[in-house]
Amino acid sequence: MTETIIRLTDLRYPTQTPQIPDVLRPATGHLEDGLGRHLHDLRISVTDRCNFRCVYCMPKDVFDKDYTFLPHSSLLTFEEIERSARLFVAHGVEKIRLTGGEPLLRKNLERLVEMLAAIRTPSGKPLDLTLTTNGSLLKRKAQTLKDAGLTRVTVSLDSLDDATFRRMNDVDFPVASVLEGIAEAQRVGLGPIKVNMVVKRGTNDHDIVPVARHFHGSGIVVRFIEFMDVGTSNGWRMDDVLPSADVIARLHAHLPVEPLEPNYPGETAQRWRYVDGGGEIGVISSVTRAFCGTCSRARLSTEGKLYLCLFASAGHDLRALLRGGASDAEISAAIGEIWAGRTDRYSALRTAATGLPENAAPKVEMSYIGG
Ligand code: GTP
Ligand code: 5AD
Ligand code: SF4
Ligand code: SF4
Repeated sequence: MTETIIRLTDLRYPTQTPQIPDVLRPATGHLEDGLGRHLHDLRISVTDRCNFRCVYCMPKDVFDKDYTFLPHSSLLTFEEIERSARLFVAHGVEKIRLTGGEPLLRKNLERLVEMLAAIRTPSGKPLDLTLTTNGSLLKRKAQTLKDAGLTRVTVSLDSLDDATFRRMNDVDFPVASVLEGIAEAQRVGLGPIKVNMVVKRGTNDHDIVPVARHFHGSGIVVRFIEFMDVGTSNGWRMDDVLPSADVIARLHAHLPVEPLEPNYPGETAQRWRYVDGGGEIGVISSVTRAFCGTCSRARLSTEGKLYLCLFASAGHDLRALLRGGASDAEISAAIGEIWAGRTDRYSALRTAATGLPENAAPKVEMSYIGG
């Protein structure tokens, strides 16, 4: 009889097992890294699977029927995620974003939302608890998520033109269903809703103004994102990036905009508002104007590895501690040490150097680490 062996750790990406420090310093609610940046956001990937195959994220020729996704046993359980989240919140995290892959594909996600919504910051405040989704299941799930305590949602939407949208998600998914999901999220009060549009020159840049017009005056904030060199499989080329400055110039010609101050230091988006009072938009310029200097984000992968940068090639295996009998105090101290030693600033180095990715080590895929 042949035996099937399921590997419990994904060996595609290198991992370090965190050291438990000799002295267990308790969390103080403030963690500073090696460049003086405070930990504020935790992005938790709850699945590496997605029902879309967006060309810039999970291209079909790589993520095909032979691609090995993580087995269920290697995913962090809801209890493990909640335990980790509490430890991060004690260190100063105030915002948790659930990502994927497509987070709404994770079974009973609303149960996890309920567990996370019960967490309070050291000063007793509820978390900003949000989720990034492709919107395909949102119409069905918006009310349950709201009832479970989700604060808001961000929906990816790369085009309003059905043919372009279907081409970009590459599974022939119609744009109308995502728009229905957004409408339902608005109806149940999962706001402020944000819409993320990744702009690829020559693919969907003709849709910048129509998308802006569609959401103008709706209270929904559209953010135009520069196509990034994340992972290794999306065939990134600088020629495909439309700089945010050009996005703003194109918008300004039709719908005049003026800059706004950031909501908080370290925000990914630069904010702009319509001069006519039609609301706000944002641009996320990770390629042409890196925002590493104030980066306050940690990422917990689907299988419990802690990544300190979206472009990292190695993670810290928190799951080994969670499943290895370490106490809360030990795991908390290990997290503190890891953040304190952080010096990552990939986008700034890439921009400052040649404008091209220099990093030779294979970067983790966005669907694995969580966008
Ligand atoms: P808000 O809380 O609504 O401001 O969300 P956010 O902008 O922090 O998170 P969101 O998931 O909406 O991020 C939007 C996009 O910005 C992501 O999909 C990525 O493309 C990019 N992004 C987010 N965080 C980082 C980061 O730390 N570094 C880089 N380079 N890009 C990021
Ligand atoms: N460049 C920029 N953003 C990306 N995303 C995924 N891949 C990329 C990329 N290569 C982001 C988009 C999408 C979210 C799930 O991940 O914002 O909306
Ligand atoms: Fe799925 Fe989002 Fe990646 Fe598209 S961008 S393939 S919807 S995880
Ligand atoms: Fe933060 Fe890395 Fe993104 Fe820079 S590239 S903003 S350090 S996640």
